Amino acid sequence: MRHLLDTRTLSREDALRILDVAEDMADTQRREVKKLPTLRGKTVVNLFFEDSTRTRISFEAAAKRLSADVINFSAKGSSVSKGESLQDTAQTLQAMGADAVVIRHGASGAPRTLATSGWISAGVVNAGDGTHEHPTQALLDAFTIRKRRFGADSRGRDLAGIRVTIVGDVLHSRVARSNVWLLTTLGAHVTLVSPPTLVPQDVSRWPVEVLYGLDEALAREPDAVMMLRIQLERMNAAYFPTEREYSRIWGLDARRASALPADTMVLHPGPMNRGLEISAEAADSARSTVLEQVANGVSVRMAALYLLLAGAGPDDRNAADEES
Ligand code: CP
Repeated sequence: MRHLLDTRTLSREDALRILDVAEDMADTQRREVKKLPTLRGKTVVNLFFEDSTRTRISFEAAAKRLSADVINFSAKGSSVSKGESLQDTAQTLQAMGADAVVIRHGASGAPRTLATSGWISAGVVNAGDGTHEHPTQALLDAFTIRKRRFGADSRGRDLAGIRVTIVGDVLHSRVARSNVWLLTTLGAHVTLVSPPTLVPQDVSRWPVEVLYGLDEALAREPDAVMMLRIQLERMNAAYFPTEREYSRIWGLDARRASALPADTMVLHPGPMNRGLEISAEAADSARSTVLEQVANGVSVRMAALYLLLAGAGPDDRNAADEES
């Protein structure tokens, strides 16, 4: 695996390989092995043009636990604010010896541009690009669902027969897109629930069922309910219901959460708008996997960096090279 740019082109075999290596990484953490020497001498650059708490820190922790050197770059306070281009920024980091670049960017497709432009030779990991994809978030979500469902027997298993309902602002959500592709590749049945104005126009081409009512979807007792953050910063007020209306119709409030079967998982990628798409009762309940997702994210990102940089991928295919 040369780059990790999306889950749309990630094969079932490669996805399972990442999840299984992440299990190995999680085992080392459980055994309190603080550091593995695997990536000693490698340099990972976190290149973040958009804000992040979980993803940036998680990649930093993952790289350090594999003994890599880490350079954190934030566009704020850098020469990007003087107009420096993505090409010049990336080539500057490459000249400092980057072996892998983890990039978050507001423009959909920026990581693919970096991977295919020839500007740099480092492996590229997409840490979220515009409304396009957030592949490591989907991988950690799949890891979390698999772990909750199968426990110690998770290795090698896909998600066949698991029913996942993804709720909320699908239109702006790179998390939703990456999850749709990955979860269905792994055999899960995915239902989207969203206000009609927050459903992407091309959804009829996605391998999902679409519902507009949350109560109807929850009455089917899915195995996992994934609440999406309402992306107010990307919202056009003309097509967003009022926050009060949104919360009443599409929010996972205490009543809805308590009516779910005890083993239904509640996921949220964070950051959460408590009281809007998810209530505090639901977010902090035993059903909630929010903090497990954060912890699992480090293991999944360790696996991704390991497979990229230690040359231990299932093959050398480059999804970026394959897609026209
Ligand atoms: N889930 C997620 O991407 O969170 P951050 O924006 O904090 O990285």
